[in-house]
Amino acid sequence: MFLQGTSRITPGGELSIGGVNTTELIERFGTPLIVYDEELIRSQMRAYMEPFKGRNMPHRIAYACKAFSAIAICQIAQQEGLWLDVVSAGELYTAQRAGFPADRIFMHGNNKTREELEMAVRAGVAMIVVDNFYEISLLSDVLNEYDATMDILLRIAPGVDAHTHEYITTGQQDSKFGFDLFSGQVDQAVDLIQREHALRLVGLHSHIGSQIFDVDGFRAAALRMADTTVHLKTKFGLALSVLNLGGGLGVRYTQADMMPPIAKAVAGILDVTEAAFAKAGVTMPTLMLEPGRSIVAAAGTTLYRVGSRKQIPEVRTYVAVDGGMTDNPRLALYGAKYEACIANRMLSVEQETVSIAGKCCESGDMLIWDAVLPVSQPGDILAVSCTGAYNYAMASNYNRIARPAVVFVHNGTARLVIRRETLNDLVALDIPFLQDA
Ligand code: LLP
Repeated sequence: MFLQGTSRITPGGELSIGGVNTTELIERFGTPLIVYDEELIRSQMRAYMEPFKGRNMPHRIAYACKAFSAIAICQIAQQEGLWLDVVSAGELYTAQRAGFPADRIFMHGNNKTREELEMAVRAGVAMIVVDNFYEISLLSDVLNEYDATMDILLRIAPGVDAHTHEYITTGQQDSKFGFDLFSGQVDQAVDLIQREHALRLVGLHSHIGSQIFDVDGFRAAALRMADTTVHLKTKFGLALSVLNLGGGLGVRYTQADMMPPIAKAVAGILDVTEAAFAKAGVTMPTLMLEPGRSIVAAAGTTLYRVGSRKQIPEVRTYVAVDGGMTDNPRLALYGAKYEACIANRMLSVEQETVSIAGKCCESGDMLIWDAVLPVSQPGDILAVSCTGAYNYAMASNYNRIARPAVVFVHNGTARLVIRRETLNDLVALDIPFLQDA
């Protein structure tokens, strides 16, 4: 496992994060435990701002909290001056409970309910990214009811195929998201929006996918967005002042993943976008980006206790931990690859190849196939790195397994930000069928 952020090996051969030893963390908080390196989160957020320095380019960076939504992370995003991208009533509520200013929040979603739109309007969010025809009429209805107006961005499926896992590409033409660019839907949508006085169309939005390693897809999307901006100006006299190019920058889950540092990748996106707008002969709008994964993935490490072992002679050795697809479903869903270490035996020389299994009743409940690790014993700590994005966010209670606790570490101090679920939490929503049970 390669070390990122403040992760270090102590002289005693232990993994420490944020200046706190992992053995100390699990003694205090138990396992499985998701540990976030607060300094790394903040530096990733700052890295997004970095390339704008020295460029006269109005911009907004929003944290897409679908990657990891919690009150604490919303508060950090606020402190760092970011905006927030929310996609549901739950994410909006979390942001509100964090005290996040509504005028820096915008809402996404391909099927926002009336209740969610009402909540967003009541909260006074800055913008709504309108995804489809139904939403145009639903949102204007809600706004009329509240006698309010709303800045909106039009989500466009730009017909760009980002080279990533097919379940997480979103920009291609055949996608459930946004208005199709090639069949006149964008013009139709603009026409409808212009008749609704409550809707103020201020810009365009495109998101081409997730875990993207190069700027080619962003270049293609920026060119299409620039052309569309010109087209809408000519046809409808629209002066669009915002362009949101979505999120999607990839992260290094394993040493084999080649990803330039965020600041360099973002500088590349800025270059191609500026060039696209210069080519189209239009002023660069305020540029928005809404990263999720690249802000939080590398900052997260999951700590598990090693438990049982099954050795199948000449086939494979399984080592099981006390979590699995319930706290990290990404191998099961996407075939994602992770790296791990035995956090209390970092200097151990005796190694073996083992596959790391979870504890769910399902063969697909695996965390890593064929990991080369120090020989471990039950009770050792297995640390899986780069688990900060779409892990806790997608955690489940399958097999009625409680979701882990989450701590933020910084400068030798650990703070609990989400407590571990208890057995009582697991039955909290149940209503007994037999009243005397
Ligand atoms: N904006 C929009 C409209 C999105 O749909 C997404 C991610 C983002 C921004 C943030 O993208 P990011 O910077 O995190 O790549 N569960 C999958 C990833 C799903 C991505 C969903 N949308 C996974 O674990 O890989």
